[in-house]
Amino acid sequence: MEKSIHLDHLMLGVCYYPEHWPETLWQEDLRRMKALGIERVRVFEFAWNIVEPTEGVFDFDLFDKFLDLAYAEGMTVIMCTPTATPPAWLTTRYPETLNADKDGNLMHHGHRRHYNYNSPVYLRYVKKIVSVLAERYGQHPAIVGWQIDNEINCEMNEFYSEADRAAFRVFLEEKFVTLDALNDAIGARFWNQTYSEWNQVDLERHSLHGHCNPHMALLEKEFFSLSAIRFVKLQSDLLRPLVGQRFITTNGIFGHLDNERYTQECLDFMTYDSYPNFAYGQEGINGKRDGELGDRMWSMNLSRARALSPNFGVMEQQSGANGWDFSMLAPMPLPGQMRLWTMQAVANGADYISYFRWRTAPYGTEIYWHGLNDYANTPNRRLDEVAHIHRDFKKLTSVAGSKYVAKVALLNDYPNEWDGERDLWHGPLDHASRNAIFAASQHTHTPMDLLYLQPHMTAKDLRAYDMIFYPHPSILSDETATLLKEYCELGGKLVLGARTGYKDEYGRCPMRPMPGPAASLCGITVREYTLPHPAQQTEIRWNDDRLQALGFWETLIPNDGTETLAFFAGSYLDGECAMTRRAYANGGAAYYLGSGFAEATAVKLLAICGVLSPYDALVSCPADIELALRVSGEHQWFFLLNYTGEPQTVEIAAQMQDALTGALHQGEQTILPYDLLILQRS
Ligand code: GAL
Repeated sequence: MEKSIHLDHLMLGVCYYPEHWPETLWQEDLRRMKALGIERVRVFEFAWNIVEPTEGVFDFDLFDKFLDLAYAEGMTVIMCTPTATPPAWLTTRYPETLNADKDGNLMHHGHRRHYNYNSPVYLRYVKKIVSVLAERYGQHPAIVGWQIDNEINCEMNEFYSEADRAAFRVFLEEKFVTLDALNDAIGARFWNQTYSEWNQVDLERHSLHGHCNPHMALLEKEFFSLSAIRFVKLQSDLLRPLVGQRFITTNGIFGHLDNERYTQECLDFMTYDSYPNFAYGQEGINGKRDGELGDRMWSMNLSRARALSPNFGVMEQQSGANGWDFSMLAPMPLPGQMRLWTMQAVANGADYISYFRWRTAPYGTEIYWHGLNDYANTPNRRLDEVAHIHRDFKKLTSVAGSKYVAKVALLNDYPNEWDGERDLWHGPLDHASRNAIFAASQHTHTPMDLLYLQPHMTAKDLRAYDMIFYPHPSILSDETATLLKEYCELGGKLVLGARTGYKDEYGRCPMRPMPGPAASLCGITVREYTLPHPAQQTEIRWNDDRLQALGFWETLIPNDGTETLAFFAGSYLDGECAMTRRAYANGGAAYYLGSGFAEATAVKLLAICGVLSPYDALVSCPADIELALRVSGEHQWFFLLNYTGEPQTVEIAAQMQDALTGALHQGEQTILPYDLLILQRS
């Protein structure tokens, strides 16, 4: 079921903390927001203590007043459940509600997200505060929707409290029923790990090298994800009957969480928190490491949000410098960058953009995480930029609800993602290939979607895409291989890479020639493989091109009827088959590359699959420009975004209208540094 936000125009919002400011400032704040075109505020995600300062004693005065004022001022509100920050009275009285490290040491009060999802005591308090809030504010006329908690699984996505350990055993018992089945699934015979009582089974404990059973480590991640989903579901089930038609969402996309499942089961749509300024950070969260794309790399994260909700919201959009007082430092956005990053989100499918935050925090860890207003609350260029964005949004009203269009998908799945976090024999390879494939799609202006394989997906669903990269699915079931084969039979072009199919669902390596279930799909067998040392070099010779053999090498034996496309060149693998193509009916094909994907390899594959640069004949752009297309019926909007400090020139073949100025453009057009061009066609 499509889980999209439904708005009839592109909308601006902002995160606001009435509890941080004197009441006398609220009205002026709300009026200034309205004057800037901000129509919505998000409140309350960390305010539990304000309404329940001591256990069972409620004081709604502050939020009653604020919500009534917001209503009177014509401001709509997204209300949050405050469960990301349980109050000190709760965590002190019930330390079992806290998360713990692998030695069982409890987190202390003072940060956020320090609770665990499985403590029956915490769940009792969560139910109570959510019910109390929903009963009091569920029908409040200012409130249009609810956000559950804040950034589920951010900061900490591993849980080792007593409650989690107990719940893990229940999870395993439900899944495997018998200890024999569990022992078998985790290969417990190795190193004497066989369990004879359920109470011997545990989450990871501090040991020589962490969890020495990789299969148990994979089960753990499945359990963390399930715990988080149950926690969110508990809240959405409580809210639903009390909030009427108002939407329920949450914000951010984080690890150890099946985001597809929880969006489907608990939410009306997903919102993302977009902070592209991390690319300019001083401590290594640097986009340049990931395919040299810098802030443009955030388009990959936005694609991730789009996979959950074709039209999504951004609950927190970068509006100033990054900075906790002790970490995550990055400069003020340059003039134009806030607007560029806002349009980056819109280009990629967002219809709602809410800035984090209205005013920079006057105290606490986030005193340098700048909002739209500085501490002094006086005019500044970031506020001017919001006014500019609002003027743009008014010109783009009908973009709301239009869809991002891509004919290429990059497929992923949770078991491989989670297994690859630990397994150095496929995780890093997958990461490098994904970034290179994404860079290829960006630099060649070939729009691409990100997709997570879901149990209900059919070959017809996949066939919405002409080409699918599924770079290194080490864990691959026969069912998935059959699905992919059906996709090829429907005319789809599938590309797989090294390390495909050698693991089963528990991450074990069964006695079966590689690439396991993909062998018949691709019409090949792997003869020999290695994880080369960086000093070992070989290339891939594909017609006249020499391409990098990235990260892993597999030599292939093609079956009769399978075509060899490329060979290894140099090293002891010289002349061995490196890439194949098995043809299917209706123009479909299964490609197999016995290596990782370098950017140039991905570009060449896009080309031979006939999907490269589909709009080049209309608008030809330099590699430094991102091109995204949103479509609604007959209407098309080409978003051309310049992330660089240099002017960029695009070439427009046939006359198109500038959606922001109304001017008609044809021929060369310059896009200034950190600026953009939106071309409209209907
Ligand atoms: C987000 C979070 C916000 C704020 C912001 C800046 O991850 O949801 O509450 O902390 O980052 O650090």
